[in-house]
Amino acid sequence: VERILSGPSEVLIDAGLADPLLPARSGRRQVVVVTQAAAERYAVEVAAATGADVYHLPDREAAKTWEAAGDLYRHMAKREMGRHDTIVGVGGGSVTDMAGFVAATWLRGIEVVHVPTTLLGAVDASIGGKTGINLDGKNLVGAFHHPTRVVVNLAWLEELPPALLLEGTTEALKAGLVGDPRLVDLYQEQGLAAPLEVVVPAAVRVKAAIVGEDFRESGVRAFLNLGHTVGHAIESATGMAHGLAVAVGLVAAAAVSEQRYGFDARWLADLLASLGLPTAVTGVSAEAVTEYLRRDKKRTAAGIRMVLLRAVADPVIDVVTDAELEHAMASVGIGSPNLS
Ligand SMILES: NC(=O)c1ccc[n+]([C@@H]2O[C@H](COP(=O)([O-])OP(=O)(O)OC[C@H]3O[C@@H](n4cnc5c(N)ncnc54)[C@H](O)[C@@H]3O)[C@@H](O)[C@H]2O)c1
Ligand SMILES: [Zn+2]
Repeated sequence: VERILSGPSEVLIDAGLADPLLPARSGRRQVVVVTQAAAERYAVEVAAATGADVYHLPDREAAKTWEAAGDLYRHMAKREMGRHDTIVGVGGGSVTDMAGFVAATWLRGIEVVHVPTTLLGAVDASIGGKTGINLDGKNLVGAFHHPTRVVVNLAWLEELPPALLLEGTTEALKAGLVGDPRLVDLYQEQGLAAPLEVVVPAAVRVKAAIVGEDFRESGVRAFLNLGHTVGHAIESATGMAHGLAVAVGLVAAAAVSEQRYGFDARWLADLLASLGLPTAVTGVSAEAVTEYLRRDKKRTAAGIRMVLLRAVADPVIDVVTDAELEHAMASVGIGSPNLS
């Protein structure tokens, strides 16, 4: 078992389910396991291990709605969930974000434990204490609320469908680029065969260390947004899967990093390509991407802030110029945006 502390959370990573699965807690009377259809078979095992019953959320982002939260609150009211009781989220980030949000707000905060079943969930969404649901904007309503424990069953992650493995790989590699050169080397040497038993703890350590330094994202936590400025714009404009759009966003960030700091953008694009990740987009309207970037730009007066790399594991947050953004977009196949 690997045991990593992330603020008040302990992350347990093993080839099976931690036993006991829940941390000891006096006064706990009941447990609700919250899941989605695709993770049902895992939720059933967790429920059996904890004496809980299973509650179903709608699939993917439909899980993170106000209505779904209301239904879950009402279920908990019916169950008379008390302040010493526990919610367990079993699923991808959409499940753990919702489980965490409801736990953060029920009776002003009850215990939540996460059992992430996607790689993205294991290395990113389930740790760090951010919870949220979507209203008109993604993650518009939320709270900071750490799980007491995160249990990663590597045997389950080994069964992931390739598309989900690939999406999580982007975030794991991102963690390496931000804070662990050995993780980057591992992907370089072994590609997608990089063992999850090494990848997951390494990526979790990077995020846990950064979150430990900066829980509420005033400074260094933003390093975890590497690739996400252009990545989010592409995701919004195209509907591309998050992990794939962020891979393209990493190439865009590398292009600006190359101009400013001599970072080797070609090297990163080749590494992403060798993993089967996209490094460019085609047929994407520059106007659409630019529109999303422009919204981002409004947030700071000086311009768009982007995470850049001076080198692997040496990130920096810079305000970039319109010309640099144009270069970044051109480097991923998005032509002639007009940002003014
Ligand atoms: N809180 C945070 O810090 C944070 C960080 C990153 C992402 N997120 C959030 O995480 C969400 C994305 O998470 P995700 O990428 O895990 O996607 P997801 O939760 O939407 O899951 C994707 C699909 O895979 C299914 N699934 C889950 N586990 C599976 C398994 N083992 N095998 C087969 N299918 C499985 C899900 O039911 C869903 O249909 C977004 O809502 C995002 O906002 C949160
Ligand atoms: Zn991401």
